[in-house]
Amino acid sequence: MRIVPFLSALAFVLLGFVLGFSFPVSITPKLQCGVLPWSGGGSARSSFLGRLWSPFWNSSSTSGIGNVARKPEGAERLPPGIVVSESDLHLRRLWGSPNKDAPVRKYLLAMAAGYTERANVNATVQKFSDNFDVVLFHYDGRTTEWDEEFHWSKEAVHVSAMKQTKWWFAKRFLHPSILAPYDYVFLWDEDLGVENFTAEAYIDIVRKHGLEISQPGLDATKGKKAYDVSVKRDAGEMHKTDAGGRRCPDVHKRPCSGFVEVMAPVFSRDAWRCVWHMIQNDLIHGWGLDFNFWRCVDDPEEQVGVVDAQYVVHHGVPTLRDQGNGDKQGSRAKVKDRQYEEMHAFDSRMANADKALAKSKSLT
Ligand SMILES: *[C@@H]1O[C@H](CO)[C@@H](O)[C@H](O)[C@H]1NC(C)=O
Ligand SMILES: *[C@@H]1O[C@H](CO)[C@@H](O)[C@H](O)[C@H]1NC(C)=O
Ligand SMILES: *[C@@H]1O[C@H](CO)[C@@H](O)[C@H](O)[C@H]1NC(C)=O
Repeated sequence: MRIVPFLSALAFVLLGFVLGFSFPVSITPKLQCGVLPWSGGGSARSSFLGRLWSPFWNSSSTSGIGNVARKPEGAERLPPGIVVSESDLHLRRLWGSPNKDAPVRKYLLAMAAGYTERANVNATVQKFSDNFDVVLFHYDGRTTEWDEEFHWSKEAVHVSAMKQTKWWFAKRFLHPSILAPYDYVFLWDEDLGVENFTAEAYIDIVRKHGLEISQPGLDATKGKKAYDVSVKRDAGEMHKTDAGGRRCPDVHKRPCSGFVEVMAPVFSRDAWRCVWHMIQNDLIHGWGLDFNFWRCVDDPEEQVGVVDAQYVVHHGVPTLRDQGNGDKQGSRAKVKDRQYEEMHAFDSRMANADKALAKSKSLT
């Protein structure tokens, strides 16, 4: 599909535009953790912070970087009025008047997808209304076939890179500046059963209850479950804790509250701005992120939840596990080893970052 290289290139250019101005500051992986808004502190960090975030920040609320906000680094030579620091993943036509193009959609569905799972991906996409822009991340190199089978595919963005994970793609192609127009982003796996799920009804519930990070409940009678808190309940529209659960002596701790899993998370715009920063560039499986999503909202016990009224079945198809570099069994073992190694690396980076932050606070 011709559009794939084009959009990939476009995304890289846009990312380069956004990230380009951050590179003059040398950033170690540890410092990256410190780039969250609460890091404040040293001048290198806050100027980096200002550079990356200023386009979103109301200049009156962030004293000192107001000028940067109007002229992000790299754009100094331009009159501020021409600077566009945000984009989207909406396709535009090559003809007609730009101001009569179809508007960017309100929400985004982003899925990692392999061709063998196309029937399920099709079923999933059908549950998302026209209010969604759709992007598929292809990890098997098969992209053109989708257009032949599914008419919606022609209106989707296709990004292709061999054997990469959802979090690898998300870090590279879902920069917060690119997702700025979307109220919510669904960052989903391809192996979810969606018979009892509708995206718009889901969003109504999320909005009503002020959930910044959420997931649909899992129908554990039909599919897999890893944590009790994500299992669908029958009592109401949504739940936030596993209070009283067998494995929840302390309901204020993960995974008993402030927790959703990585297979079907839904993020508000603000939450995603934060989560994107937490994704490590080299840790591609995303293991350990779920236990830290809570950091990206003000009140984890109130703003993270599981939607029961719109629920899914987790089939748990191990599509990526078979894509290592060994024969099937060997491949799985090696991929799994890496997943655990990444999880430990992430945990220790987070612990070190917490320690460094605590230390810097105690000095001031
Ligand atoms: C900036 O933030 C202040 C305080 O939060 C608010 O009163 C003002 O309306 C905001 N300005 C813009 C342009 O959003
Ligand atoms: C895609 O899914 C819809 C709804 O489930 C179904 O009607 C349609 O036949 C599917 N398309 C293909 C090509 O299988
Ligand atoms: C879930 O979907 C299936 C298939 O459409 C339907 O038979 C079933 O009644 C639904 N369950 C609920 C609780 O709505």
